Amino acid sequence: MAIRNIREIGDNVLTKVSREIKTVDKRIKVLIDDMLDTLYDAEGVGLAAPQIGILKRLVVIDVSEEGNDPIILINPEILEVDGSQVGNEGCLSVPGKVGTVERPNYVKVKAYDKNMEEFILEGTELLARALCHEIDHLNGILYVDKAIDGVRDLYEEVEEE
Ligand code: NI
Repeated sequence: MAIRNIREIGDNVLTKVSREIKTVDKRIKVLIDDMLDTLYDAEGVGLAAPQIGILKRLVVIDVSEEGNDPIILINPEILEVDGSQVGNEGCLSVPGKVGTVERPNYVKVKAYDKNMEEFILEGTELLARALCHEIDHLNGILYVDKAIDGVRDLYEEVEEE
């Protein structure tokens, strides 16, 4: 268990396409644990492996308030989308910033768990947004490229409230 260094915008690793995971060996299990440690330490909603410099198709998401109900997705693939939502989005790789991004309001994803068993996950609202955002990371895409009016400083949002 270890907290890994989160790569920030400008780092080339964030713009690369990640590779599929063929087998979950000990290294991948350690990687999953480290990604969860890193996610909780940074108080994020989701983290994709390229954000810690590992170009593998692995994502962890936790949209629960308590922070102990993580979703682990290996080789996730979006099967269906429906509806749309427009809302604020941030990223641990773009610290201190926020942007408005349109996402589907519903997504259906196929992925593999730690035992390489295939499963289907459906998400709406925040989970749908997180799934799209994290899967984008696996394809080298950051939300800043999709933000409707560019990104803003997070502290300006706080001052407005
Ligand atoms: Ni992100």
